[in-house]
Amino acid sequence: MTYVVTEACINCKFTDCVDVCPVDCFYEGENFLAINPDECIDCGVCEPECPAEAILPDTEDGMEQWVELNAKYAAIWPNITQQIDAMPGAEEAKAETGKLAKLSEKPGAGN
Ligand code: SF4
Ligand code: F3S
Repeated sequence: MTYVVTEACINCKFTDCVDVCPVDCFYEGENFLAINPDECIDCGVCEPECPAEAILPDTEDGMEQWVELNAKYAAIWPNITQQIDAMPGAEEAKAETGKLAKLSEKPGAGN
C-alpha cells in the first residue's frame, strides 16, 4: 500500500506533510503535491499533519485514481523536503470541493 495526496490539497499546499516524511517522497506541482507510491514506506506520519486532511491511505474507497495521479506527477515534478508557505487563499480553498479540474500539471519549484 501507499499513502496518497488527494483533491483537498489542490490550491492549498500547506506542506506540513513534507517536514515529517522520513523518506522525503513528496514532489511539488504548481498547486498540488504528490507522493511517490514506490518510495512511500506507509508509515502514516504525514496523514494527521495535513490541515486539509488531504492525505489518505490507498486502502480507502475511490483511491485508484489518486494512486495513478500521485505516481504520474511524482515522476515528473521536483522533490520537496522542507515546508514552504501555503498558497494564497489556502484556508478558503481547504473546504472547496470539485477541485480536480483545477489541478495544474505544471511543476512547482521544489527545494
Ligand atoms: Fe512519507 Fe510516511 Fe507519508 Fe509515506 S506515509 S508519504 S513515508 S510520511
Ligand atoms: Fe497538501 Fe496537506 Fe501536504 S494540503 S501539501 S497534503 S500538508
